[in-house]
Amino acid sequence: MDIFQAIKERRTIHSFSPNKVSKEIIERSIDAANYAPCHRLTFPWRFTSLGEKKRELLFQLQLKINFGDDYSITEQKIEKIKSKMFNPSHLLIASQISTNDPVQKLEDYASCACAIQNLSLSLVADGVGCKWSTGRITRHSHTYEIVGINPQDEEIIGFLWVGYGVIPSPITRPTSSLTFREKF
Ligand SMILES: Cc1cc2nc3c(=O)[nH]c(=O)nc-3n(C[C@H](O)[C@H](O)[C@H](O)COP(=O)(O)O)c2cc1C
Repeated sequence: MDIFQAIKERRTIHSFSPNKVSKEIIERSIDAANYAPCHRLTFPWRFTSLGEKKRELLFQLQLKINFGDDYSITEQKIEKIKSKMFNPSHLLIASQISTNDPVQKLEDYASCACAIQNLSLSLVADGVGCKWSTGRITRHSHTYEIVGINPQDEEIIGFLWVGYGVIPSPITRPTSSLTFREKF
């Protein structure tokens, strides 16, 4: 696929079908991520693919975060969270290797974002969608325990939901007259 086509076709997928993505496609996307630039060759990104048991634990945590001990929640609301948690073929936890140097931390985050974009574009080229999500659950201490990441070593910077899904309607993008300036 042409690079411009992949860039323009990449969208955040919100609604996934339960069809499975092959290991080969996932591995190709990780390889693409590894070609992202990083200052001082820190290669600060890590991706952790979670199996069903871990996703079940995250589902329970998400229910607790959203509804606490409110036992009056409807089946419909539970089902909505369940499908979000289980429909996507893969859940990859994106994390960034920790550093005490604030400049390196900023630059490493930029590199991680580049890596995630490479990963997403590789998936697009294979006809697969992705969603980068952040929220209370991605920062929650129990998430670190469930995933098995020591928060001293790595910071979770998002969940990457991967799978086949519905492409959302187009959004209005900025034109270059807004985002590009020339000064003489
Ligand atoms: C760092 C980051 C965090 C995001 N977190 C969420 C999220 O929690 N929930 C969500 O629906 N989309 C999330 N998104 C996706 C954006 O909402 C999405 O990129 C934006 O709406 C533009 O749509 P597009 O990706 O289809 O171009 C996130 C994107 C980035 C880069």
